Amino acid sequence: MTTHGQTPEHAPILFSSFDPQGRIAAPNRILKSAMSEVMAEQGVFLPTDAHYRVYERWAAGGTGIIVTGNVMIDRAALGEPGNVVLEDDTHLDRFAAWADAVHRANPDARFWMQINHPGKQSPKFLTPAPVAPSAVALGAGLQASFATPRALEQAEIEALILRYATTAALAQRAGFDGVQIHGAHGYLVSQFLSPHHNRRTDDWGGTAENRRRFVMEVYRAVRQAVGPDFPVSIKMNSADFQKGGFEGEEAYDLITALSDEGIDLIEISGGNYESPAMTGARQSSGEREAYFLDFAAEARKRTDVPLAVTGGFRSVAAMEAALASGATDFVGIARALTLDPELPRHAAADPAYTREVGRPSTGIRKLDIMFMLAITYYETQIRRMGQGKDPDPGMSAWRTVLANAWALGKAAFSKRRA
Ligand SMILES: Cc1cc2nc3c(=O)[nH]c(=O)nc-3n(C[C@H](O)[C@H](O)[C@H](O)COP(=O)(O)O)c2cc1C
Repeated sequence: MTTHGQTPEHAPILFSSFDPQGRIAAPNRILKSAMSEVMAEQGVFLPTDAHYRVYERWAAGGTGIIVTGNVMIDRAALGEPGNVVLEDDTHLDRFAAWADAVHRANPDARFWMQINHPGKQSPKFLTPAPVAPSAVALGAGLQASFATPRALEQAEIEALILRYATTAALAQRAGFDGVQIHGAHGYLVSQFLSPHHNRRTDDWGGTAENRRRFVMEVYRAVRQAVGPDFPVSIKMNSADFQKGGFEGEEAYDLITALSDEGIDLIEISGGNYESPAMTGARQSSGEREAYFLDFAAEARKRTDVPLAVTGGFRSVAAMEAALASGATDFVGIARALTLDPELPRHAAADPAYTREVGRPSTGIRKLDIMFMLAITYYETQIRRMGQGKDPDPGMSAWRTVLANAWALGKAAFSKRRA
């Protein structure tokens, strides 16, 4: 996107198009990172007019690549109430309408679906008997809300791999421009990668190569389902930031392995429910934007595959600097786009643009955690846009709690995320 056809002088890379292999065709380097909308029609798990409205707004705002919130591949394994599920073509028209809404609002915007299975990161009130690579419970603080999983059997692993492929093919049929495998943040793919969470002794566990097998098979199945020309990306952790977790050389080796197989874009994040580094929980205040940029700089030396870095971007200056460093090809932005859906247009017009993302708080840390304010505050902004309203960045913590109780009822107070 440019302003009046001109590339803004203060951010020439950010507002340049990107299409190295003729597949991604992004009009600029701003990627709206996945944010679970928690707005699906209850019982049928479908996107609604509210989804269409929010995404229209992001598209019209000038975002180049728009990634959906995580869409579940299995209705029996939701991460949260209100998740969208795509597992067959019964209501494919509702997904086609979602893609249409984006393309009508901005024909240049690219709309990708993030596909996910939560594994053990599904709260007890949704999944009393979750599955995972191994029967390893989440950390002590989460055990009241998340059940200890049972280990998947071989046939179940194979069936799940096919589910990722089915959902990807359906997204393609519905008119989406790409898919993203959710391989980050402690969900099923991430659980397989982690030496802590994956204790298997068969072909799916043990060595780094075996722990990588699940995601590689998911990628291959998805690729086979959508063909060579459809963008397939992954969001992966630079590190889990957890003792015994996935990190370091193994993360770089995964990047190399996926690059060798032909993946189209790798988005870099970090953390999981036990260590929520994705939203900066491990950053001290005053630290610079772009939490995972150093990792990307190292990854860049090992792959030519397009990279996106997500987490912490606030100012147009930091976005342009990250791109100019050569470490990344896209800046991934989540929370700031819930507060300013027109961020790209505003950033193109103003060299001093910055969108502060505060930490909403009741003043009582325990309550903040109980009400999951670090997430629900942004969900509430998304919900407002779904209702055709503007975001309300000044919304107080208590109003967030009330708005959430109103929208979600009892579920608002059941722990579902870290
Ligand atoms: C309300 C909310 C929902 C999120 N849902 C997802 C999701 O479905 N999939 C995902 O990969 N990341 C999810 N994230 C993480 C964001 O994509 C992003 O990695 C994180 O917020 C850091 O980027 P930011 O500093 O620009 O917000 C979510 C974040 C928020 C605040």
